[in-house]
Amino acid sequence: MIDITLQAGTVAKRREDAIVLPIMAGRKLTPVADSAPDETKAFLKNFIRRFDASGDFGEITLLYAVPGLHAYRLVLVGVGEERCITPDKLRRLSAKVTRKLEASGARSAAFYLADVELRHYTVEACIQAITEGIDLGLYTFNRYKSKPKENTHPLHSVHITVTSRPRKEYTQWQQAVARGRMVAAGVNFSRDLGNEPGNTCTPEFIGEQALLLQDENLQVEVMDKAAIEAAGFRALLAVNQGSAKEPRFIVLRYCGGASDEAPIALVGKGLTFDAGGISIKPPQKMDEMKFDMCGAATVLGIFKAAHAMKLKTNLLGVIPSTENLLGSAAFKPGDIITAYNGTSIEVLNTDAEGRLILADALAYAAEQDPCEIIDFATLTGACVIALGSQASAVVGNHQPIINRLLKAGERTHDRVWPLPMYEEYQEQINSHIADIQNIGGREAGTITAACFLSRFVANCHWAHIDIAGTAWDMKGSDLAVKGATGAGVRLTLDYLMHRFESDIAVEESEPLDE
Ligand code: BES
Ligand code: MN
Ligand code: ZN
Repeated sequence: MIDITLQAGTVAKRREDAIVLPIMAGRKLTPVADSAPDETKAFLKNFIRRFDASGDFGEITLLYAVPGLHAYRLVLVGVGEERCITPDKLRRLSAKVTRKLEASGARSAAFYLADVELRHYTVEACIQAITEGIDLGLYTFNRYKSKPKENTHPLHSVHITVTSRPRKEYTQWQQAVARGRMVAAGVNFSRDLGNEPGNTCTPEFIGEQALLLQDENLQVEVMDKAAIEAAGFRALLAVNQGSAKEPRFIVLRYCGGASDEAPIALVGKGLTFDAGGISIKPPQKMDEMKFDMCGAATVLGIFKAAHAMKLKTNLLGVIPSTENLLGSAAFKPGDIITAYNGTSIEVLNTDAEGRLILADALAYAAEQDPCEIIDFATLTGACVIALGSQASAVVGNHQPIINRLLKAGERTHDRVWPLPMYEEYQEQINSHIADIQNIGGREAGTITAACFLSRFVANCHWAHIDIAGTAWDMKGSDLAVKGATGAGVRLTLDYLMHRFESDIAVEESEPLDE
């Protein structure tokens, strides 16, 4: 794993293979460039004036053998308009430049990306974002390549430099690096689970992955089919009927807070492959339905990072997991099932299965007296139509949770956008024969799915996050290769961090060794 450390030191002294300098719109370098030797400055002045480095956001210019520098490479990173720079932009640039450096064969680099003035953000926020960018940008999923490309000269260290900053907050900065790495590890763990194909990522596999997280203050219980039958999770069992693989019901308990403090419950849809069941899906992109367990992956990523960060709160995780297939015992349109909380459900479309397995999971979570419930699910195609891949949808019964999620989304750029849950929408899921039906018609599909879920949270404060459009990305971006994105992990960790403290220990060391 790559080394990421904080360092001071002027440009002239750098011994790394590469120096990374920000350049702002209008071809302006940041103050740190003044610490370069005169011949370097003269070269850069000329280069920037006459050539391509304009400072536009996202532009990366790799220069070799710049006069006056020990470093063989100098990378100019366009950060755009100075007043528009945000930690998220630094995160994306950091990811992009890290990948570029890795490809160039550089083994070490000094990043001066934190050397920009951001009016509305702290230095820590920038350092954390830059750190996340490095670890998220280097993420790959190669385990199914029989001959993976081997990088014989991997980038092994990045020094994030903070030269032109006051140094008194050094410990906080170090914690920001540590926090960024833990957050990224949670996101990357979630991506790994999401990218795993349906033939290996089965409900049993998700249970095993959850058990890997087990520790002194993180208990994991994995219920098999017999235990699920005994507990009465009949909606989960109904969806599982068409599959030859056993379902799992996974419960995680992280204790970082006081023993009498009610936990925040995090519930994740763990559908390891969704063919739609008897209401079978069309074949186009059906392969992507291996990602239908990304809600579960989000919850597991959050638990991994919350535990590493020693977050001072209690968390309850609940993951129902099964496939949705078409075996001869499969549940059928018209079937009526009774969920864990006794609500009867008329199944009108077996492809609306996510809400069924979540019904049992939410009812179970509500029974544990949590202080609030947040669920994550790739629940509706309608959500992809409404918001595309830029934001997850959030719907709930308690505005303060939604407001806090919106803020966390802005801060992390792992964004959510609210949809209303007016009383009138509830009528769309009325059934003439059972308590409710599992589809609400074409209109407002994401909202009526949330209305369905709302029937299972009892009187708990609750928010539902539909990650159908954000959980995976088949185009790829600066921050993520094609595949699972880990959507919701950064969002929720930030949400929790702003409500509860964490206890990140950093090693005692000399402040900012030059
Ligand atoms: N997992 C799908 C939702 C989905 C579809 C996520 C495409 C991402 C991309 C879910 O189980 C589903 O099939 N939902 C149906 C519900 C409908 C039958 C009411 C949908 O959205 O079409
Ligand atoms: Mn479905
Ligand atoms: Zn589904």
